[in-house]
Amino acid sequence: MSDTVTFGQDSAPYAPTEIPFNLYKQAAPLKVKVVENRRLTGDSSPNDVHHIVFQFAKTDYRYLDGQSAGIVPPGTDPAGKPHKIRLYSIASPGDGDQGDGTSLSLCVKRVVYNDPETGEERRGVCSNYLCDLNVGDEVAVTGPAGKAFLLPEVKDANIVMIATGTGIAPFRAFLRTRYQQRVADKGQTWLFFGVQHYSDYLYAEELESYEKYEDYHLVTAFSREQKTADGDKMYVQNRLTEHRQALMDLLLQPNTYVYICGLRGMENGILEALTAAARERGLDWNELLAKYNAEKRWRVEVY
Ligand code: FAD
Ligand code: A2P
Repeated sequence: MSDTVTFGQDSAPYAPTEIPFNLYKQAAPLKVKVVENRRLTGDSSPNDVHHIVFQFAKTDYRYLDGQSAGIVPPGTDPAGKPHKIRLYSIASPGDGDQGDGTSLSLCVKRVVYNDPETGEERRGVCSNYLCDLNVGDEVAVTGPAGKAFLLPEVKDANIVMIATGTGIAPFRAFLRTRYQQRVADKGQTWLFFGVQHYSDYLYAEELESYEKYEDYHLVTAFSREQKTADGDKMYVQNRLTEHRQALMDLLLQPNTYVYICGLRGMENGILEALTAAARERGLDWNELLAKYNAEKRWRVEVY
């Protein structure tokens, strides 16, 4: 495998000719260094989400926007076996937050829950390990993983991104590339982003900084602070319904790509909202979805 990722030129100018894949496996992971670990959620939030930046020597690790990295938590599980790797969407664009190809960033939510049987507090192994890292610590990384959740391969594509929680990670990378490197790209960009509280609004300033571009539409849903007209929690799918006219116009264009990232289970609500929006226009959403799937323009990463 060559060290550089080159892109095609003509009809598909952004199609990578090579997708870096599993350059490192659990048996021989890459050791990277923590250079930043900061809390993203506000002081008043009950949720603890961190932006963590890992550094490596240039060319030691390569990835494309939208890929995931594997983290090997140190130690063993209760059965004495090494912990399984956990995947995290990479939150930085392929050349890293500093743009020099020597880092990757993650957006990690600390998992804390009560055991359904005993009620005892339990802490997720890997997310707690990551959120507690100090600058200078060494971490074992595998990957990158994922070959499908990549930016559109064509120029001037419309992108509809729908995220819940840490599902924003790959979209932060997409937006950096779209508005910092591909400014000549003329497509529409929609981002629907759902979190619990205003204080959970990850990367707020950065996401809002693109509002100066006419083709960028940012729509938020704060489920525990806003309600729908029916008095239900405000979710991303309710926002899709509110914007259904503009959205259906966009979804009927052949160069529109839809990305869904975040909570497993969010896709159903989205499909219901789009089914109703299509029906209003006398269209069958399932037919449209089949076309999207066949053309690989419906890209989902939920966990
Ligand atoms: P574990 O020790 O593995 O414990 C998690 C387990 O605890 C669950 O499987 C469940 O059995 C149990 N559990 C959790 N919550 C509850 C609850 N409320 N009640 C009862 N049981 C519960 N995570 C991110 O934070 N950011 C990302 O960008 C991200 N990207 C991902 C991308 C992909 C492709 C995938 C597959 C996953 C991604 N994840 C991401 C999730 C991540 O991989 C881990 O699953 C997550 O961090 C939890 O791992 P852990 O080791 O902390 O928890
Ligand atoms: P809520 O937790 O109020 O039900 P998380 O912080 O757990 O990652 O969740 C991110 C956001 O996704 C929260 O606002 C959460 O709302 C919301 N959410 C939970 N379930 C769904 C769902 N089925 N569809 C869309 N959004 C959801």
